[in-house]
Amino acid sequence: MDIKRIGNPGALKTSVYVPGKLKREVRRGLGLSNIINMSLNESANGPSDLAKNAYLKIANQLHVYSDSISRDLRQELARKLGCKADQITISNGAEGVIYNLGMAIVGEDDEAIIPEITFPLYETIVKVMRGRPVKTKMKGFRIDLQDILRTITTRTKVIFLCNPNNPTGDAQRKQELIAFLEQVSKDILVVIDEAYIDFAAPDADPQSIALFNGGMENLFILRTFSKIYGLAGVRVGYGIGHKELISLIHRIKPPFDVSIVGENIALAALADRKFVERILDYFLAGRKFPYWILAVSYAASWFGGASAIISADKAFAGGLSSYFVMGGPSIIAGIVLLFLAKKIRIFGPISQPEIT
Ligand SMILES: Cc1ncc(COP(=O)(O)O)c(C=O)c1O
Repeated sequence: MDIKRIGNPGALKTSVYVPGKLKREVRRGLGLSNIINMSLNESANGPSDLAKNAYLKIANQLHVYSDSISRDLRQELARKLGCKADQITISNGAEGVIYNLGMAIVGEDDEAIIPEITFPLYETIVKVMRGRPVKTKMKGFRIDLQDILRTITTRTKVIFLCNPNNPTGDAQRKQELIAFLEQVSKDILVVIDEAYIDFAAPDADPQSIALFNGGMENLFILRTFSKIYGLAGVRVGYGIGHKELISLIHRIKPPFDVSIVGENIALAALADRKFVERILDYFLAGRKFPYWILAVSYAASWFGGASAIISADKAFAGGLSSYFVMGGPSIIAGIVLLFLAKKIRIFGPISQPEIT
């Protein structure tokens, strides 16, 4: 087949996402039992009991289509977040929301501003839609907001801002972020990807939904059930934005992209406030853990590319390591110490998967 003739020219410019080694391969190859995939930032704690019970309860309903626009979950999220249900869209993970949003807004030659080091999916969907990803500079591990402002042109349609940023882990300071948002024209959509916002220090949380409610209608806020709720395998994420944008997204999104299983588990997870409190306590305790251990987990995901996997007796690093910004000496000291303690093995960099 001549894929160059058949393929969408935008899709032909993209490359395959490299997911890293599967846990079962690591288990088989090295006989490890307790494995945390650092590169995917999976929760080390698993899901809540309420979520697990909801999963069992839905077993008799597996033949049924879900509500195509997840009304119950949107209502519940709206109540919890303090916005309206028609300002929320749900999809199969925040990834699904990013794709649906990209399909809804990016046209040929539209410019999308994307920081140089950030979550890779923004660039993929922009390319698929034949838009133009325009990269901006980093200031060390930090996204340079001033460079984003300098890069805006009349063709700029959307800015993608991951906060805290994956993979550098840095969160913008609240006042700086607000000052930045105030300078962006209201004609440009600013996507703030808050997949990790629950883990940000209180003074780093810009309270983006309050900003949106207060009149910043050009914000689109992304959240997920994959991280704090430990439901990465269930695939539910959501976006909050202007109701006309949500309605446009709903015109093009695959109608049943959230399964009945996903919707019910997410609803149960939302009701489990104690679980979230426990995870946050655990996370805060982990923050007090010696810096060098976190430095190692962070360094591991850099040096191992998408394939760093750590065997840990205690899962303090918990897949959330990328939230921390490390200094060079602590990284080196940490690696040496953990290698000596035989607590870490790094796999990678890895090649493309055999089956794509
Ligand atoms: C910054 C960021 N955004 C979005 C996602 C996608 O999350 P989901 O599992 O909901 O698709 C991830 C996943 O790791 C992420 O790191």
